[in-house]
Amino acid sequence: MSDKVRVGVIGAGGIARGAHLPGYARIADEAEVVAISDIDEPRAQQVAAEFGIAKTYADFNEMVTAEDLDLVSVCTPPFMHCAATVAALNAGSNVICEKPMAMNAAEGEQMIAAAKQNDKMLTIGFQSRFGERAQFLKHLIEQGELGEIYYARVLALRRRGIPWWGVFVEKDKNGGGPLIDIGVHTLDLTLWLMGHPTPTAVTGAVFTKLAQRPGLYSRRQPIDQDRYTVEDFATAQIRFDTGAVINLETSWALNIDNEVNAYLCGTEGGATLRPLKILKEVPHAGLLDCTPAHEEGRERIHEEQFACVVRNVKEGTPPLVKPEQALIVQRIVDAIYESAESGQMVTLA
Ligand SMILES: NC(=O)c1ccc[n+]([C@@H]2O[C@H](COP(=O)([O-])OP(=O)(O)OC[C@H]3O[C@@H](n4cnc5c(N)ncnc54)[C@H](O)[C@@H]3O)[C@@H](O)[C@H]2O)c1
Repeated sequence: MSDKVRVGVIGAGGIARGAHLPGYARIADEAEVVAISDIDEPRAQQVAAEFGIAKTYADFNEMVTAEDLDLVSVCTPPFMHCAATVAALNAGSNVICEKPMAMNAAEGEQMIAAAKQNDKMLTIGFQSRFGERAQFLKHLIEQGELGEIYYARVLALRRRGIPWWGVFVEKDKNGGGPLIDIGVHTLDLTLWLMGHPTPTAVTGAVFTKLAQRPGLYSRRQPIDQDRYTVEDFATAQIRFDTGAVINLETSWALNIDNEVNAYLCGTEGGATLRPLKILKEVPHAGLLDCTPAHEEGRERIHEEQFACVVRNVKEGTPPLVKPEQALIVQRIVDAIYESAESGQMVTLA
């Protein structure tokens, strides 16, 4: 490999412009984005001009075979994640694919198989794990500060926050609504903090009560309600082999205040993520709340994510977000939708 990691980007939309390209630009000594592809090639050309990228392609297959890429960022909507990732891996590149991993676990399995066959790294864009707060809490948990974590509440709640751009509201292209879009972030983070217990059973329910109502409020642009085929709220209970339970709530539209948070309850203490707080008991004396002394400014989560992934590629080290862990999130998502459909609990092997 040359000194700089040669990066190709597939999909020139919001997350590519907002996170991947600025992320690589911040480590310009380590990585260079040499090509970008989008089925909307004028969009790829516009983004290429903005970020000084030499080459554009309409077809990602052509890009991954023509360019000698060390790393590919897959930034398409979910229905293309599997095809784009497998093409890049088969062409000999490492891949960071945006979340959700794929449309379903079967696709996730294909992606992992391609990474193994080609002996390449695959990681998924669960950037929350890279945050300062999350890293600090993980450290505290590993030191035993919370003891056995047997219950967690996972919240990714927007009162009104339906994405109005792209294909987020189309089930056949996005795979689902808030559950697969934002719920997966906090779920992944919580599973990682809990040390990845194995899920055994899932009961879920999904609703589309508000998104299709006439007069729906949308802060920026109106939602195309005719295309809306996903849930606007999902809730689930997930059981694990350790006996632990997670209760999950996630919405793009729900009559509730916004909250993105994880509450972890252990035998030795509890924790909330936002703001980071540890809840302890001093036996026979009282209850104690602990908050970090360092300042909590804006976290550089995405920046840290790309710096780490580029380092993984350069050094051949494993990524923080293992694809097998992302696959577990995807299996839980599949089970929630299945349970919601059948009205029954779904057991996981
Ligand atoms: N990690 C995060 O916090 C985060 C935030 C936002 C979005 N995302 C994820 O990133 C992905 C993209 O979201 P977005 O907001 O950028 O969407 P977007 O609609 O803004 O951009 C997607 C781009 O992919 C292009 N595209 C579609 N099919 C393609 C193909 N076959 N080849 C090449 N390009 C193709 C589209 O033309 C579009 O330009 C989604 O999976 C989304 O869930 C992640």
